[in-house]
Amino acid sequence: MAHSDRVVIVTGAGRGIGLACARHFARHNARVIVADVDEETGRSACEDITANGGEALFVRADVGERLHIHNMVAATLEAYGRIDVLINNAAIRANQDFFSITDDDWDQVMRVNLRGPFLTSQAVAKQMITQIEGDETAPSEGGGYSIVNISSVDAIMTRADQIPFAVSKGGLNQLTKVLALSLAPHGIRVNAIGPGSIMTEGFRGESGEAERRKTVAARTPLGRIGSPDEVAGIAYFLASDEAGYITGQCIYADGGRLIQDYSANKKGRGE
Ligand SMILES: NC(=O)c1ccc[n+]([C@@H]2O[C@H](COP(=O)([O-])OP(=O)(O)OC[C@H]3O[C@@H](n4cnc5c(N)ncnc54)[C@H](O)[C@@H]3O)[C@@H](O)[C@H]2O)c1
Repeated sequence: MAHSDRVVIVTGAGRGIGLACARHFARHNARVIVADVDEETGRSACEDITANGGEALFVRADVGERLHIHNMVAATLEAYGRIDVLINNAAIRANQDFFSITDDDWDQVMRVNLRGPFLTSQAVAKQMITQIEGDETAPSEGGGYSIVNISSVDAIMTRADQIPFAVSKGGLNQLTKVLALSLAPHGIRVNAIGPGSIMTEGFRGESGEAERRKTVAARTPLGRIGSPDEVAGIAYFLASDEAGYITGQCIYADGGRLIQDYSANKKGRGE
């Protein structure tokens, strides 16, 4: 399952799940590109990784901008000469009810959550194919070439105030499948992870007060909110050779939320 010396790009790696993924790969000797639109968090994430003995490079990139993605790929190649793994993690939300959503809310969420993974995957997959065809830079160990999209349970169930977010993640699940089919002939695998509620700044900002956390925990069969590391471990596995025959799939890390039938459940979790 080694990822030594592999080059891994993680978008939105300045904090939360992206940072946990970047740290996890770096701990296993991968060289990590911390790509984030927020320069401050991105740089401090990078410092954190290098202070702990990992190798990381910050690249400021807005995933919705083709030029930024082009520059991110160029900076990665200049520093490390190759790309082995892409984690499409950056995303935003616009929590509004249906009649309050503006054109801008809609466009912004689609731009970051859907256009972002499309642009980034296209640019990175082209580079991976160049490496595959050039052969002498084939990965030394672990998993071959792989893309992991961070989706959400909202791809298949949702709340009425999560409309653009849920639609974007539903689209991301389909993007995962069409990319898996398009890139399979080159041996590049594409999978997704669908987190439930994971304790990050994004979740805290979205969920507000402690009451909501209690509700989530009560509605989650495992009875707790997940940690970013629990998502990072899955990303690491999906990019490894242990997952070498898995492509086009989404693994849900949701504490059992999606399997619960609430119509038969008056008491809360586990009943
Ligand atoms: N935390 C959860 O409960 C949860 C649940 C389901 C899905 N997810 C998904 O997991 C992923 C990470 O979530 P999180 O909670 O860690 O998010 P977060 O909001 O804590 O962090 C997101 C990071 O992405 C960066 N970012 C935002 N827009 C960007 C852009 N245009 N280009 C580049 N970087 C950008 C931010 O600066 C930030 O560093 C997202 O795809 C999110 O939808 C999270």
